[in-house]
Amino acid sequence: MPQTVLITGCSAGGIGHELAKVYFAKGVRVFATARRLESMNELASLGIETFALDVNKAESIEAVKQKITEINGGRLDILFNNAGKAYSLPNSDYDMNQVSELFNTNVVSIIAMCKAFTPLLIASGHGKIVNMSSILSFLPLPFAAAYCATKAALNAYGDSLRVELKPFNIDVITIMAGIIKSNIFNNADYKLPENSAYAGMRAYFDNKEHFAVEKQAMPADVFARSVVARTLKSSPPKTLWAGAFTTPAWIVSTFLPSWLLAKILGLGAGLPTFAKQLRADKKQA
Ligand SMILES: NC(=O)c1ccc[n+]([C@@H]2O[C@H](COP(=O)([O-])OP(=O)(O)OC[C@H]3O[C@@H](n4cnc5c(N)ncnc54)[C@H](OP(=O)(O)O)[C@@H]3O)[C@@H](O)[C@H]2O)c1
Repeated sequence: MPQTVLITGCSAGGIGHELAKVYFAKGVRVFATARRLESMNELASLGIETFALDVNKAESIEAVKQKITEINGGRLDILFNNAGKAYSLPNSDYDMNQVSELFNTNVVSIIAMCKAFTPLLIASGHGKIVNMSSILSFLPLPFAAAYCATKAALNAYGDSLRVELKPFNIDVITIMAGIIKSNIFNNADYKLPENSAYAGMRAYFDNKEHFAVEKQAMPADVFARSVVARTLKSSPPKTLWAGAFTTPAWIVSTFLPSWLLAKILGLGAGLPTFAKQLRADKKQA
């Protein structure tokens, strides 16, 4: 019987879409899910089974769980929690509804998915949970504080869950993803409000390249090939690094003192120049 994987957030243009194709090419039975079925038309045309799933809706999770239970004899080998979103603004400009949705999508929904699918993973004999974290879980990037916090929470969640699921022979793998080409930057909200305390940095926020670093991002298919092979190992790593900038991110976070790392990231965002401008404005006033 082939192995099975359920992947969340498989819309075209994103990482989940490529993960589905690579698992399928390796002979794994793939249950690809996304909020909109039509965003997975290409996957369906390849023969991949597609299901509508909004990870923030309990009834949607339950419906997919029932379906997979029915069609796969109550078992699942790999639960790949990929769905997620970004949000990048100064904390003082946050829309708290967006922040709640961010935490629901990037953290709470993953807890709900793991809860729902643990019985199926136990039944498989050697289940695996793969959670999509980020190098931003440990890099103090300004204007991404809430996103960074969701990914750091996911790291801690995975570390604890790994211990408690050990008796059931379920591996928990945290992916420390670098920068990958996808729709995440286009889907995120960066619009600085008119009255922002950071209005003097508008040019920075209007330049999406600061966030997208598109040119250096790893293509999603290359990322997927690197990740899938390692999750299929009989003894997969607890933490799996993949994507552009993972090596420099590891080096600076391991060897630089935290104050220097914070200084470099602040400099990258132009914060010292902004602070200088604020001081000059204050003097003039
Ligand atoms: N790209 C990067 O550089 C990078 C780096 C580190 C980590 N990551 C992580 O990688 C994962 C995939 O992101 P991506 O880069 O591929 O971004 P993406 O292209 O925006 O894809 C995100 C996927 O998550 C789905 N999603 C969002 N909210 C959902 C919900 N409530 N229910 C179900 N699906 C939902 C999106 O569906 P819709 O199409 O319906 O919106 C989409 O399929 C995320 O967890 C992200 O944080 C990405």
